[in-house]
Amino acid sequence: MEYVELGKSGFKVSVIGLGTWQIGTRLWGWGKDYNEPDAVATVRRAIELGINLIDTAEVYGGGRSEEVVGRAVADRRDEVFLATKVWISNLSYERVIKSAERSLRRLGVDAIDLYQVHWPNPLVPIEQTMRAMERLVKEGKVRCIGVSNFSVEQLKRAQEALSSEEIVSNQVEYNLLNRKIERDLLPYARKEKITIIAYSPLAKGILTGKYAPGNVPRDLLRRVDVLFSSENLKRAGKLLEVLRNIAERRGKRIPQVALNWLIREPTVIAIPGAKRPEQVETNAGAAGWRLTDEEIMEIDHASSSFKPERVRSYASLLLRLLKLW
Ligand SMILES: NC(=O)c1ccc[n+]([C@@H]2O[C@H](COP(=O)([O-])OP(=O)(O)OC[C@H]3O[C@@H](n4cnc5c(N)ncnc54)[C@H](OP(=O)(O)O)[C@@H]3O)[C@@H](O)[C@H]2O)c1
Repeated sequence: MEYVELGKSGFKVSVIGLGTWQIGTRLWGWGKDYNEPDAVATVRRAIELGINLIDTAEVYGGGRSEEVVGRAVADRRDEVFLATKVWISNLSYERVIKSAERSLRRLGVDAIDLYQVHWPNPLVPIEQTMRAMERLVKEGKVRCIGVSNFSVEQLKRAQEALSSEEIVSNQVEYNLLNRKIERDLLPYARKEKITIIAYSPLAKGILTGKYAPGNVPRDLLRRVDVLFSSENLKRAGKLLEVLRNIAERRGKRIPQVALNWLIREPTVIAIPGAKRPEQVETNAGAAGWRLTDEEIMEIDHASSSFKPERVRSYASLLLRLLKLW
C-alpha cells in the first residue's frame, strides 16, 4: 500500500481507502446481498492489506455502518484512520457536538480521526458548524476536520470560519465518468494542499466492467441512476474497452486501472466501497504501481469523449420502477 499525508495534518493515509456506505444500507436495496459477517470480513481484510482509511457516516444505515466498523476495528484501532461524517441536518453548534458524541459511542473509540461535514447546509451559518468542530478538536474528540461535497467557494468560507484549525480534505464524487472537479476544485485543492477524497471512484461499479446494457444490478438506487441507463452504459463501452486493454497488457484488473488513474494525482485518494474481501483485495491492488504517461493519455482521451445522457425520460423511469415491483 502507498500512503500520503492527509492535507497538512501530518497524518498518513492509504491512497486507497474503504468506503462503508454499503454497510447497513437496506433502503435502496443496494445492501440486499450484503450481511454483517461479510462487512466485518471486508473491513478486516482491508486492514490486513494496509488500508488504514475507513470512511463511514452517521447517516449510513442509520448508524449501523459506524457500529459495524467499530466492531470490526475494535482490536486494531491503532492501525486505522477512522473518518466519519455529520449529516446535513445536524450542522448547528449543539447538534454537531451531539452527533460527534453519538458517532464516538457507535464507533467505540475516544477520538474520530477525520470528522467531515457531509453536505453544506445553506440554512446553517458555517461559522456555527466550524466553531463546534474546533471545540471537538480542543477536547481531543476529533483529530482532523474535513468537508464533503463543498464547492471552492464553500470551502473558502469554511476555511475562513476556522480560527486555529485547517480543513484537511474535501470528499467529492470523482471518477473517469465524472471529472467535473478538474475545472476548479482540484486545482484549488492542489494549491491549498487539501486532500480530495474521491467517492464513487468506480462510478458505483460501472468502472469494474461487470455491468452492461441489460445486465444492471437490481437495486433501486442504481436502477434510477441515469448513469446506469442502457444508453449511458453503451456510451461508457469505449472507455471500458481502453481500460480492459490496458489491464490485460499490465496484468491488472479493470477497477485497478480506473483507481490507479485517480491516484496518479498526489492530491487525490480514493475510497471505493467494497462488499466482500475479494473486492477489497482487487481495489488494494490499484496501489503500488503507475500507469505510463501514454496510458494516462489514452485513458484521458477515452474518458473525455464520454458524454452521458443527462435525464432519463419519465416514462422509462416509471417503467423501470414498475418492473421492480
Ligand atoms: N460523501 C458523500 O456524499 C458520499 C456519497 C457516496 C459515497 N460516498 C462514500 O464513497 C464510498 C464509495 O462510493 P460508492 O459506494 O458510491 O461507489 P463505488 O466505490 O464507485 O462503487 C462501489 C460498488 O462497486 C462494486 N465494487 C467495488 N469494488 C469492486 C471490485 N473490485 N470488483 C467488482 N465490483 C466492485 C460494489 O457493488 P456491487 O458488487 O453491487 O457491484 C460496490 O458496492 C461509499 O461507500 C461511501 O463511503 C460518499
